[in-house]
Amino acid sequence: MGRRDELRDAARALIVTPGKDTRMPAFEWKDFFSVGHDGIDHQHKQLFAIVNELYDGTRRDGDASEELLRRTIAALGAYIRTHFAEEERLMRLAAYPEYARHKQAHDGLIARVAEFEARIRTGEVRQAAGLLPFLVGEWLTDHIAFEDQQYAGCVNSHACNPHAKYSALQELESTA
Ligand SMILES: [Fe+2]
Repeated sequence: MGRRDELRDAARALIVTPGKDTRMPAFEWKDFFSVGHDGIDHQHKQLFAIVNELYDGTRRDGDASEELLRRTIAALGAYIRTHFAEEERLMRLAAYPEYARHKQAHDGLIARVAEFEARIRTGEVRQAAGLLPFLVGEWLTDHIAFEDQQYAGCVNSHACNPHAKYSALQELESTA
């Protein structure tokens, strides 16, 4: 088993098995998921909270459930776009060498969330429940626990290579 599989398994073991008890959060943040950056950790915790709400929506019946799912998918879509943009900005500032690959992973995740947003628009709200396995399996445990750990060293030291300073300056100038 490779390092990636080990991390994924460890992350899955840490996630509370979703049950019927709505008083318990289905997915619980653990320090294991930390990338060592307060701002990003805070955003990841917010994502866990949104996923918990989404899971709550799937555990309820009727109109209340549909309304909650509709609201939560909208919140998720908006939040991940802001969150990914922030991660990407930090990676560019640190001249993270795997930036393009990581951005591609983000774009793939956004495309999949966009599919669910489209389903919501056409009234297929219950299908949104199908988003959960994807979120838990591929995102929380794979992306946050593995992909995001890869950039941690770079982003936290603000530099990955000698060109970092130059890239950071370019970034600041282009956004000034
Ligand atoms: Fe990421």
